Amino acid sequence: MTENDLKTLIEKALDMRNFSYAPYSHFRVGAALQSSDGRIFGGCNVENSSYGAANCAERTAFFKAVSEGVKDFKRIVITGGLEGEPLQYASPCGICRQVMREFCDPDTFEIILARSTEDYKIYTLAQLLPESFGPENLL
Ligand code: THU
Repeated sequence: MTENDLKTLIEKALDMRNFSYAPYSHFRVGAALQSSDGRIFGGCNVENSSYGAANCAERTAFFKAVSEGVKDFKRIVITGGLEGEPLQYASPCGICRQVMREFCDPDTFEIILARSTEDYKIYTLAQLLPESFGPENLL
């Protein structure tokens, strides 16, 4: 991935964060998921007055892609933080990591936690979800 591609992906995640619907936690998250064919799927967190019905930004992006027939992915950028405060390195929750595990190679899929286009950390899925359970276990 070129530096410019990464910048574009981070900018998309930052844009998606503007759509975050987080009136309860005020923790706003945007994600940009890049598929193997180069497409980008955006997502944001969508909360609910019945708190358990909330959906994370990462899963929004994955479900948008999968529901359009796309199931091969390269990387995801996540941008998140409390409203009005500096961005954190917003790490994906356990459920989102498991959803990633369903579709992504743990050793090559990249999870990029970005605070800006210049300030980010890159992990593989295997680093964030070691010793994982996945589809092969059921074959
Ligand atoms: N959230 C995400 O969107 N992604 C994560 O991986 C962590 C948490 C959202 C869910 C909820 O709307 C808010 O952040 C606070 O938990």
